[in-house]
Amino acid sequence: MISHFKKWISILLTLTLIAGCAPKPIEVNEDEVLFKKIAQLVQAERNNFAYVDSLEYTLGSVLSGGGSHPTSNNAAGWRNLVSQYQKQSPTPIIYGVDAVHGHNNLKGATIFPHNIGLGATQDEDLLYRIGVATGKEVSATGVHWNFAPTLAVAQDIRWGRTYESYSEDHNIVSSLGLAYIKGLQSTGIAATAKHFLADGATKFNPDSGYKLDQGDAPLDEETLRRIHLYPYYEAIQEGEVLTVMISYSSINGEKLHGSKYWITDVLKGELGFKGLVISDWEAIHQLEGSLYQQIVQSMNAGIDMLMQPFNWKSVVDTMFRAVKNNDISRERIDDAYERVMYVKTQLGLLDNTFEMANESVINSNEHKALAREAVAKSLVLLKNQNQVLPLQKTAKILLIGPGIDNAGLASGGWTFSWQGENSSQNLPQATTLKKAFEAVASAHGGMITTDRSKINEVDVVILALAELPYAEEVGDATDLSLTGSMMHPDNQDAINFAKTSNKPVVTILTAGRPRLIHEELKDWDAFVMAWLYGSEAAGITDVLYGDLDFTGKLPFTWPKTSNTDVISSQNSQRDVNQILFDIGYGLKTR
Ligand code: BGC
Ligand code: BGC
Repeated sequence: MISHFKKWISILLTLTLIAGCAPKPIEVNEDEVLFKKIAQLVQAERNNFAYVDSLEYTLGSVLSGGGSHPTSNNAAGWRNLVSQYQKQSPTPIIYGVDAVHGHNNLKGATIFPHNIGLGATQDEDLLYRIGVATGKEVSATGVHWNFAPTLAVAQDIRWGRTYESYSEDHNIVSSLGLAYIKGLQSTGIAATAKHFLADGATKFNPDSGYKLDQGDAPLDEETLRRIHLYPYYEAIQEGEVLTVMISYSSINGEKLHGSKYWITDVLKGELGFKGLVISDWEAIHQLEGSLYQQIVQSMNAGIDMLMQPFNWKSVVDTMFRAVKNNDISRERIDDAYERVMYVKTQLGLLDNTFEMANESVINSNEHKALAREAVAKSLVLLKNQNQVLPLQKTAKILLIGPGIDNAGLASGGWTFSWQGENSSQNLPQATTLKKAFEAVASAHGGMITTDRSKINEVDVVILALAELPYAEEVGDATDLSLTGSMMHPDNQDAINFAKTSNKPVVTILTAGRPRLIHEELKDWDAFVMAWLYGSEAAGITDVLYGDLDFTGKLPFTWPKTSNTDVISSQNSQRDVNQILFDIGYGLKTR
């Protein structure tokens, strides 16, 4: 590593000499230097970038896409993965993952609630601590860079990435995003503010083919700045976030990946962002023209590193040609290169002072307790009739519905795999709702059953409804009813059973966004929104049994219809007739 450092220093000295117009040292091949610099501006995916490749193409970065992990999916396996690349690379790579709710690609990691649930807590201190915990688990695997947090201010909950957004309110997004960035970066891990800009403002318009994910945001500049740019000010100026990822989406028809105005003038100029700007996964291919033209446009717009999981080799070669042809200036390449080096320097990669956390932090008792606290604080109580809550610890309880014993559904997309898991199988670390109920009941002489034939023996029915897991465009939904897009097929049967049970019913909804409940709500005595809470369902029983009271408040307006583009509190044309519960609503039991 020391010799790598020396090599890097010597390249740097040479470059400084060139820049200073000193006589050219004869031994330096300028093209080789340029080629190496350009390789630093490209990121490949581990599956498509073998260790030997890094000998020839010393890429700046390697990532694990959603769910991508080493064969041994444990701390040692991950450390080995990263260190193999480092051994081959004269300039250390920076390794990135999406640890968007805990280190979610790592088997056995603590899975925190997705951002929408954390938005309900409005607890900055909690977000800071979750940033620290996530940073430590990431660091323990030798990874340096986390593509989080999402600073989307989602305006239409039909969007499949709504759960990655803290709130429809930019103030909540901003304060929680900032707290998380500070926590994460305090552990020596780089954060990413994403996706710049207005990824949460895309407009759904089936008639003109507009979609929500990767769609278009038709907005005036004042609204863009006031709502969607705002969290970036805080992230950059207060949080000193090291990286920013560009959004697949467009603003008024212009793709962000090609926008010099938003990236160079506003983000780097006005906001003074000093770190590195990365493109999203193959996103430059959504720009017009050939690969050559896509690279020229995106680099000239101000992107510093291209996330090109598969075709990284032709991207390096093509960018090299574009610079030789003067279609991308050398100054632009130098700026991008310096920004990549700046981030690597900040993380201690170049002088080998990057410090890995001890692997004992992974799903430690402390992290489990933190996740449990987060779950308890994220729950929002929307109805509680006849004081059915809190439950008696001695109560006899029937659990029904697809959400009762399934950690995959509780965690949603970006958990173990990109689209998430349909069962608990790959999440053995998780406490499911059923396990959490059983723990309380067995300690206090209560009774928990999932056997519907025991209905006459029980005091109360817990109806656990769930969405299927999804990520990105797969989650775009046109029908938000309880049987609509992305809802689990078993919900209806459980709803019917509960309705005719003649017992008090407490409904718990596990979902990445509000769903339409106004017709069913009258059949339920209590209704709790649990979001995508992750691996620590004991946080739910802590509150249901009354050890803690509910404190969560809705981070999004709750709709009455699927026309959810007109309900956000940030929308000047808001239609109050479409609203069931307003943002900020949430009951207590005492
Ligand atoms: C997503 C990003 C993510 C990247 C890498 C993209 O599809 O939009 O949020 O960071 O993939 O996994
Ligand atoms: C990857 C994700 C990525 C997505 C983009 C998936 O195969 O695992 O990380 O965001 O592709 O489409």
